[in-house]
Amino acid sequence: MSDLQGRVAVVTGASRGIGRAIALRLAQDGADLVVTATTLKSARKVAAEVGKLGRKALPLAVNVADFSETDGLVKATLGEFSRLDILVNNAGITKDNLLIRMNQEQWDDVIEVNLKGTFNCIRAATKTFMKQRQGKIVNITSVVGIMGNAGQANYCASKAGVIGLTKSVARELAPRNIQVNAVAPGFIATDMTDALPEEVKEGLNTAIPLARIGQPDEVAAAVAFLVSGASDYVTGQVINVDGGMVM
Ligand code: NAI
Repeated sequence: MSDLQGRVAVVTGASRGIGRAIALRLAQDGADLVVTATTLKSARKVAAEVGKLGRKALPLAVNVADFSETDGLVKATLGEFSRLDILVNNAGITKDNLLIRMNQEQWDDVIEVNLKGTFNCIRAATKTFMKQRQGKIVNITSVVGIMGNAGQANYCASKAGVIGLTKSVARELAPRNIQVNAVAPGFIATDMTDALPEEVKEGLNTAIPLARIGQPDEVAAAVAFLVSGASDYVTGQVINVDGGMVM
């Protein structure tokens, strides 16, 4: 799958972990990139890595929870590349707590970044996709958005919301030849999961039929499929990349 020559992809939260792996994979497949992170410094680092792969990359600091910033992201993309073909909504946070202890701020922050942030970026990019009569949107959700997880009511609600958003937007934009899908990673080795307590990690491992933690580039491979021409007849779907955790 290396048919992304001449395409421009925006990847949010691309500074590390899964977002970084997605940016590098799409660059390997031939796309030019707009890579966003919460700081310009960390976006520049991954842009340099994309550059080493022979592709162009525009680094930007964007808070996806702020609609005007996501609107600015699309404007900057069009200013630099005069086109936008692919949007990968990867930026996400966790603020875990048991429901009984979860405060409003923990709830609001996670919903704002994970769910509203995904809406904001889709809303900002869609006009361009509609004009072009083509576009690929991939939203990174999570298997816990399907199965739930104790201590993550805010995160699971946000990720379940992303699935509903994906399916609704897929239906709305299908007549314009815009495919909208989601990838649901299971337990992937990144800074986010590194922060989990050891006993939680062990518990998770035993719940995985393939009996190992996944790697960011294994999530990136599913995204690469969903943004390629190989998936032009696939929309409104959630692909689990989880070693069989949910089936
Ligand atoms: P990470 O914590 O390593 O990276 C998150 C990225 O999002 C960073 O680049 C960060 O700068 C960016 N970000 C955070 N808040 C932001 C904001 N307000 N605006 C813009 N960017 C922001 O996380 P990881 O593990 O790479 O996760 C990436 C995505 O995959 C997230 O949506 C996460 O929920 C999802 N995911 C991760 C799993 C895992 O096991 N690591 C499992 C299932 C889903």
